[in-house]
Amino acid sequence: MPAPPGLRLPPPLQVAWLVADPMRFFAAGRRLGPVFAIRLPGMPPEVCVATADLAEQVLAADGSGGRAGAVRRGLLGPLVGEASLLTLDEEPWWRHRRLLGPPLHGRAVARWGERVAEIAAADIDRWPLGEPFALRPRMERITLEVIMRVVFGIRDAGRLRRLRVLLPRLVALGGNAAVVRLPPRPREWLLTAPAARRAAFLPTTRFARVRAQVDAILYDEMARRRRDGDPGACDVLSQLLAARDEAGEPLTDREVRDELITLLVAGHETTATALAWTFERLVRTPRVLERLRDEPADGDDGRAYLDAVIKESLRVRPVVPATPRVLAEPMVVGGHRIPAGWCVAAVIPLVHTDPDVFPDPGVFRPERFLGPEAAKANRAWLPFGGGRRYCAGAQLALLEMRMIVAEVLRRVELRPADPAPERVRLRAVTLVPARSARVVAARRGSAAARPWPG
Ligand code: HEM
Repeated sequence: MPAPPGLRLPPPLQVAWLVADPMRFFAAGRRLGPVFAIRLPGMPPEVCVATADLAEQVLAADGSGGRAGAVRRGLLGPLVGEASLLTLDEEPWWRHRRLLGPPLHGRAVARWGERVAEIAAADIDRWPLGEPFALRPRMERITLEVIMRVVFGIRDAGRLRRLRVLLPRLVALGGNAAVVRLPPRPREWLLTAPAARRAAFLPTTRFARVRAQVDAILYDEMARRRRDGDPGACDVLSQLLAARDEAGEPLTDREVRDELITLLVAGHETTATALAWTFERLVRTPRVLERLRDEPADGDDGRAYLDAVIKESLRVRPVVPATPRVLAEPMVVGGHRIPAGWCVAAVIPLVHTDPDVFPDPGVFRPERFLGPEAAKANRAWLPFGGGRRYCAGAQLALLEMRMIVAEVLRRVELRPADPAPERVRLRAVTLVPARSARVVAARRGSAAARPWPG
């Protein structure tokens, strides 16, 4: 059985191309066939697939030794710790997934809709009017607030103030190349040894300090909740403290801490970027924007169109590029044998632009998720991955997107700061708009709020 065809470039050039222009990089791979191999420095060879059927096969590996945790551990371990849904595999992962499932279930998160809308409204009212600004950082502010107040359930104003500064710093330093690229042993030494911890200029020292400050707040919050109790609390932290596994055991404080940081890392920038892309596309597609505004806000039809807009945005501009798994056993995909130890991945932007499923794949047309074509489109829609490692926060992300898009449309009119579409850039592990979705806002109904003419 032949090996999959591969890009003929040395690994450092492949990674440089991937970072500079991820869409062209993946498109070049697809020209070799629906199964192709890439090589990135420091990683095992990675076999990529480009269609929904092949993606389904690859994601089925989750049940037979495909390991998502092993791929993510090197990059995310220092930030999220060892007891994280992102980095665990096999039985320990299952235990955590079963405990985190109920608080993030669709029905559970639906209770947070009002809170999310209030948080969004308060932020939108502070947006500048009549001058260009970048939407993505604003969306990050809103989604961070949702994580702190709705997921962590923090109410104390002082703690919220401190976390508002500390959490973005923690994520930025935790993703810093000087922290993530170090081999595990020297990194652990730099993060923990007293001599290293005195060198304040080192990124590892700054990271360790911020991490200790955040951990102190979270452990203290857990101690208070255990002491004071609040049986009616519906935030994720309170529910995790009350959760018991099949042996009747609770998660330890360390495990709860790691999962809280996991939800922050997995759910904050991703959702903000998805929202930024939604508006980047909407302001350049006036037909869709107008239809969305004209639909009744609360009726079923209005909600159906809003949902289709969100789906189409996550299709045409998926935030996460791929779903890599390290194989514990060899696998056959599309007539190619892939050895154990290699990675396989569905490449989400390629699956989402397969012209057999999505005619005119570059066009932003939410209607493809309504009517007779919808069933086929939904089957190939993978922005949240799939298999057993399907995004644990997908229902929360979709709720946030629905509430925040509706709140923005209710309060302001937006037009692009520049009519040219924003390019797709790879930033850490997400696909972001190159200029962070720059727009100009006007208060709804004001003369300056006329829609973009083109
Ligand atoms: C639009 C926003 C989001 C997108 C596009 C997204 C996408 C993804 C993707 C593609 C994966 C990997 C799935 C796979 O490998 O098959 C993932 C995993 C995960 N996501 Fe999300 N996500 C989003 C928001 C969130 C939110 C809000 C949370 C929680 C607060 C969250 C928590 C997680 C967790 C914990 C995992 C790891 C699941 C596991 O390995 O068991 N995500 N997400």
